[in-house]
Parts: sequence; C-alpha cells; structure tokens
Amino acid sequence: MASRLPLAGQLKEKEEHEKTRTELEVKEKQLEEERQNHTLTVQRHGEELERQSRELERQREELERQGRELKIKDGKLNRMKTLTIVYEKFRQWIEDEASNSSSGFTEFNHSEVDDSIPKDQKYHLGKGSYGIVYKAELRGKTVAMKILDKSSWQGEREFKQEVGILKRIRHPNLVILLGACSEKFALMYEFLPSGTLEDCLSKEERKESFSWEERVRVATSICSGLVFLHNTKPNPIAHGDLKPSNILFDAENVCKLSDFGISRLLQHSTDTVIPNHITEVPKGSGPYMDPEFLSTGKLTPQSDVFALGIILLQLVTGQSATGLRKHMVDKLERQNLGKMDTRRQKMILEKLQILDDKLKLDDKFIQDAVRMLSLGLRCSYNERKRRPNLEAEVWPEIESMNKSECL
Ligand SMILES: Nc1ncnc2c1ncn2[C@@H]1O[C@H](COP(=O)(O)OP(=O)(O)O)[C@@H](O)[C@H]1O
Ligand SMILES: [Mg+2]
Repeated sequence: MASRLPLAGQLKEKEEHEKTRTELEVKEKQLEEERQNHTLTVQRHGEELERQSRELERQREELERQGRELKIKDGKLNRMKTLTIVYEKFRQWIEDEASNSSSGFTEFNHSEVDDSIPKDQKYHLGKGSYGIVYKAELRGKTVAMKILDKSSWQGEREFKQEVGILKRIRHPNLVILLGACSEKFALMYEFLPSGTLEDCLSKEERKESFSWEERVRVATSICSGLVFLHNTKPNPIAHGDLKPSNILFDAENVCKLSDFGISRLLQHSTDTVIPNHITEVPKGSGPYMDPEFLSTGKLTPQSDVFALGIILLQLVTGQSATGLRKHMVDKLERQNLGKMDTRRQKMILEKLQILDDKLKLDDKFIQDAVRMLSLGLRCSYNERKRRPNLEAEVWPEIESMNKSECL
C-alpha cells in the first residue's frame, strides 16, 4: 500500500504534467497563429503603404505635368495679351495716320536724290554702319536720307524686294520708311528732330532730365516696336542692329526704332551667312551684337533680345555698353537683390555705385530698377536659349513697371 501511493502520486503528477504540456502546446499554437496573423497584417500594411506611396508619386507626377502645362499656357496667355495690347495701339495709330494722309511710299529717281544731297555739313546727320545720313528736302518734305554703301549690296533687284517688305511695316514705335531710290541704294525715312537715345545716355544736358519714368517709357516703346517686327507675317523681321543711336525721338518725344531689317539686306550679314563670311560688325554695334550671331552667323529675333538686355542695363546704370554685362555680373555676384527689402536694395545699389548718378530715384522705383537690372542680365545671356521670351516675359515685366509709374 505504502508503495502504491507514491505511484498514484507519480501518475497524477504525470497527468498534470501532460496537461500543462498540452496547454502549453495549445498556447504555443495560438501564439504561432497570432504571430502569423501579425506578420500577414504587417505585410498587408506594408503593401498598402507601398500602394499609397505609388499613388502619391503618381499624383505628384500628374501635378508636375499639370504645372508644366499651366506654365506653357501662362506663357501663351502672356504672349497673347502682349500682342493684343501692342496691336491695339497699332490699330489706333493707323487710324490717326490715315486721317493724316501723309504716310504714302514714294519711289524717287536718281537725279532727285543727287539734287537733294545737301552741301552744307550741318545737314550731314552722321556716317553710320551702312552709309551716310543727310537731312534733305524731297518733294517738299524733310526726310532723313540714308545713302547706303553700294559695295555691300547684292543688287538692285534684292534691294527692291527688301524695300517692298520694309515699306509696309508701320507701327508707332518704328521709324517710317517714306521712300527709296533703288538706283542709288537710298532710303528716305521720316525725319525725327529730337535726337537719339544715345544722346539721352551720354550728353550731359540730356542725361540730367532723363527721368526714371522716361526710361521705363523708352524701354516699353523699344519692346513694343520689337514685338511688332518679330510678329511680321509671313516672316518675322529681326531688327539686327538695335543700339541707342538707332533709337530716335520725334517732335512729341515718341520713341522709335530705326534701321530695322537693314542688316538682313547686306551681303555679309544675312540670316544665312556662313560664319567665316562675317568680316565686319557694324560700327558701334559690337557690345550689342548677339554672341551667338557672331559665332554662327544666324540672326534671329532672339538676337534683338540680347541687344535690348544691354540697353536695359544702360537705362539703369547710365554706363557705356562695352563690358557692361560682365561688370554688373561681377558686382552683383554675391548679392541676392531680388530677395531683399527696398531699404537694403537701395543701400547695396548705392554702395556698389550701380545706379546712374543722374537718376534721382524715388524709393518706390527702387524695386523696378532692380527688376530692370535683372531683366537686362537675363536678356543678355550669351546662350540664346537662356534669354527670356520677348512677348511672354520681357514685355509684361516692363509694362508692369509702366503701370507702377502711374500709381
Ligand atoms: N530718321 C532720322 N531722323 C533724324 N536723324 C536721324 C535719322 N536717322 C538717323 N539719324 C541720325 O543720323 C545718325 C547716323 O545714323 P546711322 O547711319 O543710322 O548710324 P548709326 O545708327 O550707326 O549711328 C544717327 O545717329 C542719328 O543721329
Ligand atoms: Mg542708325
């Protein structure tokens, strides 16, 4: 009996042990199941997260695409706005001109031109890149007569052809071509009595009164004239020789571009010349000449944007065009003028002696001067592709300065 009891105890203990083991096994199974469930849940969450992040990436790309499309649409819209405004001004001007009835085109003959060349030196307005300019009287009208250097012309036929295009170009900011003489290779322009932009930038007495408002107005006028030329149908016309001595003022001080399209007519500077053939850059045009035109011989409207850039820099600084861009880039290298407040902008501009010292610039115009400076630098990038579009970017920017002038 004494030996059975422990056996019964042992059995009971074994039974209990067995029970605990089974319980443990069940628990272990449960735990394993839970672990598996948990892993599955984590996996599912991971997959869900991945799906969501792919979806987010897709949405981001879609937004970026829409952003790019919007930017293109915005550019197109700006371009349309610019053209609408420029053409509306042109339409009003054409109506006024029609009632003036003074704008017909005349073909002059050889002897008329010879007879009208004034002997007196005071009527010799200048010797420019393409020939001599006289103040002359022709059929009772005062004109600026430009007799082109014969040696640089392809021939009478080409001359007539090109004049045929240029005589139809009419815009309030472009000098009118009143007549021509194909035997003498002469062009007769409306006479503009109030000097050139070169005078405003260099002659002391003109510089004194060349206010900021006036400079912005000049910039807008140049830009409007260029927009019109570049949108001429069927082919755009590049000015090709934009510089301050080709920007003139009429009796009412309206600013007009002259000599447009002439470089296209020259034997050695048409838009199809081979680089080696560019032997000459028109005198005084050097700093305004598009570097890409000089290296490739290809003249495009973007070449005018380069020249405009240099002129904008001159309007702000009053300095000579030679080396001006580099000079400004060196000075402004470490400054981020666009991000500063007006007080600081003014301080930096004064410290670096950037503004034309003849310019009494009101605080409210400082920001516009900074914008014109930055626009000038962007327009005059060496690489054509980096320059902004005239209608979509340059014109609206300058036009908005014009508006702040009126506030
Ligand atoms: N339509 C015009 N009316 C009055 N003056 C003019 C006109 N066109 C040119 N001029 C004068 O003649 C000068 C020489 O003209 P141009 O031969 O075009 O040379 P450039 O423009 O290269 O200086 C100009 O700087 C300007 O003073
Ligand atoms: Mg000229």
